[in-house]
Amino acid sequence: MVKHYNHTIIKKVVLSLAIISITTHAQAKPLILNCGSTNSAKDADGRSWDPDDIFLAAGTKFVVAKADVQDPSLPSEVPYMTARIFQSEAKYQFPLKDSTSRTMLRLHFYPSSYPNFDISKSYFAVDAGGVTLLSNFSASISAEALSQSYFIKEFFLAPSDTPTLDVTFKPSADKLQAFAFVNGIEVLPIPAIFDSDPALAGTVGAGVDATGATTVPISDSSMETMFRLNVGGQYVSPVNDSNGLMRSWYDDSVYLYGAGIGVAVAANTSIAYKSMPSYMAPLDVYSTYRSMGAYKDVNKNSNLTWIFQVDPSFMYMLRFHWCDSEMTKPNQRVFDVFINNKSAEYDVDVFAMTMATSTPIKKDYVARVAESTSELWVSLRPTDATKSQFVDVLLNGLEIFKLSDVAKKNLAGPNPSISDLMRKYQDGPASFASEKSAVSTMIITGAGGACAVGLAFVACLFVYQRKQRDPKGDGATTWLPISWNSSSTTMKSSVSGRSQGGGAGISSDAACNCRYFSLSEIMSATKNFDESNVIGVGGFGKVYKGVVDGSTMVAVKRSNPSSDQGINEFQTEIEMLSRLRHRHLVSLIGFCEDNGEMILVYDYMGQGTLREHLYKGNKIVLSWKQRLEICIGAARGLHYLHTGARYTIIHRDVKTTNILLDDKWVAKMSDFGLSKTGPDMNKGHVSTVVKGSFGYLDPEYFRRQQLTEKSDVYSFGVVLFEVLCARPVLNPSLPKEQVSLADWALRCARNGTLEDIIDPQLQGKVGQESLKKFMETAEKCLADHGTERPSMGDVLWNLEFALQVHENPDHSRGGSTTTGSVDFEGQIDQNSIMAMHRSILNIEDDDDDDDEEAARKPQNGSDNPDEIF
Ligand SMILES: *[C@@H]1O[C@H](CO)[C@@H](O)[C@H](O)[C@H]1NC(C)=O
Ligand SMILES: *[C@@H]1O[C@H](CO)[C@@H](O)[C@H](O)[C@H]1NC(C)=O
Ligand SMILES: *[C@@H]1O[C@H](CO)[C@@H](O)[C@H](O)[C@H]1NC(C)=O
Ligand SMILES: *[C@@H]1O[C@H](CO)[C@@H](O)[C@H](O)[C@H]1NC(C)=O
Ligand SMILES: *[C@@H]1O[C@H](CO)[C@@H](O)[C@H](O)[C@H]1NC(C)=O
Repeated sequence: MVKHYNHTIIKKVVLSLAIISITTHAQAKPLILNCGSTNSAKDADGRSWDPDDIFLAAGTKFVVAKADVQDPSLPSEVPYMTARIFQSEAKYQFPLKDSTSRTMLRLHFYPSSYPNFDISKSYFAVDAGGVTLLSNFSASISAEALSQSYFIKEFFLAPSDTPTLDVTFKPSADKLQAFAFVNGIEVLPIPAIFDSDPALAGTVGAGVDATGATTVPISDSSMETMFRLNVGGQYVSPVNDSNGLMRSWYDDSVYLYGAGIGVAVAANTSIAYKSMPSYMAPLDVYSTYRSMGAYKDVNKNSNLTWIFQVDPSFMYMLRFHWCDSEMTKPNQRVFDVFINNKSAEYDVDVFAMTMATSTPIKKDYVARVAESTSELWVSLRPTDATKSQFVDVLLNGLEIFKLSDVAKKNLAGPNPSISDLMRKYQDGPASFASEKSAVSTMIITGAGGACAVGLAFVACLFVYQRKQRDPKGDGATTWLPISWNSSSTTMKSSVSGRSQGGGAGISSDAACNCRYFSLSEIMSATKNFDESNVIGVGGFGKVYKGVVDGSTMVAVKRSNPSSDQGINEFQTEIEMLSRLRHRHLVSLIGFCEDNGEMILVYDYMGQGTLREHLYKGNKIVLSWKQRLEICIGAARGLHYLHTGARYTIIHRDVKTTNILLDDKWVAKMSDFGLSKTGPDMNKGHVSTVVKGSFGYLDPEYFRRQQLTEKSDVYSFGVVLFEVLCARPVLNPSLPKEQVSLADWALRCARNGTLEDIIDPQLQGKVGQESLKKFMETAEKCLADHGTERPSMGDVLWNLEFALQVHENPDHSRGGSTTTGSVDFEGQIDQNSIMAMHRSILNIEDDDDDDDEEAARKPQNGSDNPDEIF
C-alpha cells in the first residue's frame, strides 16, 4: 500500500517521456484507468487517465458513482472522484503483451460516501491472474488505519503465459449489501526490477535454511509493496521517481525505534548508477542516507533499528539500497544486518561490494514473519573496530514487499485492527510510555503507510494562574489543559478534514481513532466532576483530573455549555487531533458526547509545563542535558506536525506552557486549539487572522498575516532563549530594551554578550561548543524573514548536535571550526554536515591525541544528567 502526501506540491510535469521509456522496456502500453469515467482526463501531475469500460468483460453489471465530497487531501480529482461499483462479481480483462516480465498493478481506492451506498458495508475480494490480492477487504477500515482519505495498493504480479490479465472484484458473500468498488487502476509493464533471487535471512549464522539453500526462488511469487523508504531523505513524489515508474518513497524516520536515530545526511558527491539500472531507485534515494554519526564510542554497542507493522504468516522480501559516498577503501564502514533479531548478513561493506565510491548497489533478503507477530524489525549494527575503521552503519533506501504464498496463491491479509494499532507505540514498545496507560499513544500503521493518527491540544495556564485556581493548591504535579483561545476574538479554524455537513455527531463515523467514553464513565472517573478534582479553568470550561480503567490518570476537559467554542470546533478538534499520534504530542485518549456534553479526555502529564520548571519558583533546576532533551522532544513533535502528518500542520501557539512533560520528563507539544492544517498549502502559506501569544509571535506573520510553518520556528526560537535564559518572554518590569526576550536576546547576540544573560544556574555547567550551537540555532530561528529561518528538521539536527557535543565534550574539538559553517539558508547546507562528519571522523582516527584530551578533561561532571530522576 502506498501513500501519497497531499501536501507535496506537485508540479505539472508532462510524463510522456517517462512513459515512452517504460514502453521501450517492456514493449507494452501502460494502462492508466479512471474507473467510472467516460472521458480521458488529466490528474494534477498531468498524467492522462482513460475510461475503464472497454476492459470490462461482457455482461458485467456495475454502477458508476461520483463521490459526494472531495476530501482536501486528494491529490487530484482524477481518478478519485469517480468510482465503479460492483454488487456482483465483475471482471476486467487487460491485454498482456509480454508474458516474461512482471506486471505492476495499482489499485486506487477512495472510500468516501457515494450516493445510495454505505461505504462501511463494502467488503470484497480482488483476484488477479489467479492470485488472491485482497479478501474480505474493507477500504474504509484500511483508510482509517492509515489515517488517509484515499490510498493505493501496489502489486507486482508474477509473469504469466496467458494473453490477458484477468482482475476480478467479488463482493463478500457473507455480508449483507456488500459491494466492491475501485476508483483507479494502473496496469504497467515494468522493467526487470526483481531480477535475482534474494538471500535467505533469519537463520542465525550464514542464512542457510533447513535444506541448505541460501536463496529463495521468488520468480513464481506475486508481491505487494508494503513500505518504500528514502532512508535519511525526504519524500520522493511519483513524478520524481526514476523511469516514470511513479513510485512514492517516504521518509523513514517514523519507523525508527528508540532514541538512537542516527543522523540523516545528504551526500556531497555526484552519484552515478554505473552498472546498476536506473529504474531500481531514483538518485534522490542514493544521495541521502542515515548513519550513526561520528561518535565511535557511542556507536560501538548500539544499532539503528526500524520497526514495521506487517501481516503475520507471510514471507517478506526486504530490499536494501546502499550507496557509500564517503568511504574510499574497504574495511572503513562494515556492519551487520539483522532482520527480526536474526542475522541476515555479517560484515556488509558497501565499498568492498562496489569497489568504488558513490556507486549504488541493492541487496535483497527474504524473511518469514511468524504467525505470532505482526512486526518486522530491521537492525543495522556496526562490526567491531578491528574490522571497521569508522564504527558506523549505512542505509540509503529500504523497500519491503510481501510475497504471495505460492501454494495458496494468496497475498491477502486481514483488515487492520484499529484497536490493535492503538496499542502500538511509534517509538517502540513502552520504553517511554507510561505503564499505567492502557490506551497507548503511538501508532505505526500497517501496510505501507504513514504514521497514523493522534491528537492533542491542551493549553496550560501559567503557573501563577494555576496556583491561584488550583483548589488544592498543591503544586508540582498538575497541569492545566485550557484552550488559550477562549478569550480571543474570532477564530476561523476551518479544518475541513472529513467533517461532513457540520452538526452531525462524530460518534457514528469512523473519523475518530480514539475511544468513546460514556458520560457515566466520565462521571465515575472524576467523582461526578468533583470540584476537588479541578486542575484548571478556562474559557472552554473546566479541566478535571480523573482515573479511568482503574489506574490510568487522565485529564478531562469539559466544555462549558455557554462557551463559544461550538460543536463544530469540538468535532474538528477531535477529527483532526485524533489523527495525530506521536511520542512528542500530547495524546487525546477519547471523548464523550452524551447528553450534549462536549468532553475531551487526554493523557495526564505528571510534570506539568516546561515553563514551570524554568522560573517562577521552580523547585528543581533542570540540567543542561534535560533542557536539551526537552527541546529536542518538542522540536520532534513540531517537525512531525510540519512534515509527518497527512496535512502540514502549523501549531501557531508554540510556547513553554504548551510544552508539557510527562512523569518521565518526555516533552509533548500540546494545545493544537489554534492549529491550522494546510490542505491548501500550495501557496506555501495560509492567510489567516493573527493568533498566538505575545512574546512568541512571528513578526513576519504579524506584518503579512500569512502563516507558514516558519512562524512556529520563530516561536520555537523564543522558547529556546527562554530555556537558555530562564526568564519570561515578556517582563514589563525590566528596562524597556529588555522587556521582550526575543528582542533582547537578538541584541545581545549581535553585541556578543549573549553569554551574560544565560540562566545563572547554568553558568559553568555547559560546554562552550554545545552552548554555541544552541545559541546559534536559537538566533537563526528568530531571523526576520521566514525564508531565512531553518526548518524544524534543521533545528532538530542542530539541537541533537548540541546534545552530542555536550555529552562527549572531548570529541568537540575540531568540530568547532566546521560547525560554524552550517548554513541555514533554507536547508541546512549538507556540505557542511559532510565536512563536519568527516572532520570528526578524522579526529576519531587520531586516537592518541584524543586520549590525551580526555585525560586533561576528565568527566568532571559539567552537569549531572540524572540529578532529578
Ligand atoms: C522533484 O524534484 C525536484 C528537484 O529535486 C524538486 O524541485 C521538485 O519539487 C520535485 N517534484 C515534486 C513533485 O516533488
Ligand atoms: C539493538 O540495540 C538494543 C539496545 O541497545 C538491543 O537491545 C538489541 O538487542 C540490539 N539489536 C541487535 C540486533 O543488535
Ligand atoms: C526483537 O528483540 C526485542 C528485544 O530485544 C523484542 O522486544 C522484539 O519483540 C524482537 N522482535 C522480533 C520481531 O522478534
Ligand atoms: C472481515 O473483516 C472484518 C473487519 O476486519 C472482520 O471483523 C471479520 O471477522 C472478517 N470476516 C472474515 C470472514 O474474515
Ligand atoms: C562539496 O562539493 C563541492 C563541489 O564538488 C566542493 O567544492 C565542496 O568543497 C564540497 N564540500 C565538502 C564539505 O566536501
